[in-house]
Amino acid sequence: MGKYRLAVISGDGIGPEVVAEAVKVLKKVGETYHHEFEFREVLMGGAAYDACGTCFPEETLEICKQSDSVILGAVGGPKWDSLPGDERPEKALLKIRSGLGLYANLRPAIMHRALSEACPIKQEIIGDSFDIMVVRELTGGIYFGDRGYRTGRYGEEAFDTESYSEFEIRRIARIAYDTAMARKKKLVSVDKANVLESSRLWRKIVTEMNAEYPEVEVSHMYVDNAAMQLVRNPGQFDVIVTSNMFGDILSDEASMITGSIGMLPSASLGEGAFGMYEPIHGSAPDIAGQNKANPIAAILSMAMLLRYSFGLKEEADAVERAVTEVLEAGYRTADIAKAGETATGTKEMGARIVDRI
Ligand code: IPM
Ligand code: MG
Repeated sequence: MGKYRLAVISGDGIGPEVVAEAVKVLKKVGETYHHEFEFREVLMGGAAYDACGTCFPEETLEICKQSDSVILGAVGGPKWDSLPGDERPEKALLKIRSGLGLYANLRPAIMHRALSEACPIKQEIIGDSFDIMVVRELTGGIYFGDRGYRTGRYGEEAFDTESYSEFEIRRIARIAYDTAMARKKKLVSVDKANVLESSRLWRKIVTEMNAEYPEVEVSHMYVDNAAMQLVRNPGQFDVIVTSNMFGDILSDEASMITGSIGMLPSASLGEGAFGMYEPIHGSAPDIAGQNKANPIAAILSMAMLLRYSFGLKEEADAVERAVTEVLEAGYRTADIAKAGETATGTKEMGARIVDRI
């Protein structure tokens, strides 16, 4: 029996709807396995901007730091798109990741057998199934580098900078090697070392560290090739490790080949057990408030929370099993339903999963 304090950032768009279902799932886990989860709602993103004039209130970071982990829905939307870059909801997300020291983002892309028909790639390419873990560096690289405007030869110029230190590469590579050790021991490091200096350092360090993990078979792939290989033969990948921007892009691609981005969870981790857990999808303002969103990514994020931050393996398995059972029973939210199939709403999907825990 444990007691856990969670900060909850519902955020914008469909964020509050999917987080509500995720919270119900945790409450049911608490009842069934005798744990106490305490939830504290905090504001970030557009919702925070509307309520207090900033997307990232100071109090939010403080409360998150005092919690055992953070649950996040999604932030952003057209309403706040015209804010200056530094004040946007997306910037708040970058700031909280960095403020909490969450430099490693784990994004599993697993195809559920029951959903193989939603997969946009031909059956003969996909094979039986695939199970990829994208390990994305989350607090460095071009999303955090020097940026700005300057006057160049042809007038105004804008620039962003990609930069990685040995320290940053080493710590994310360690997470990737450890992850690979717990899986099929195959690691692909993705970079653009044929062009970028930062990628050459990345490759050198990942290669050196192989000496500490002789059992891991490591290889290197340029990002353009990796993007192609993911749709050509996804089954070849086990763990992928890559920079912040490449990981942002490749994890969306990897998620789409599973059938729907609405299915995939993520964990952001640093040193220690603390983490932030969020679906990898965005705020989907077009379907917000309509009970249409798929809550499964948020719910599976709770399984990751239970597993990675709280070490509750049995409970995590129970959540994942409940999701599989509901899919096998044929329930589908609109994003994963076939044409003509009746779609299950967000709340009903959540309730059916809760029932099976
Ligand atoms: C993601 C998102 C964010 C990112 C945006 C909203 C800042 O795309 O979590 O992948 O780029 O990291
Ligand atoms: Mg993204």
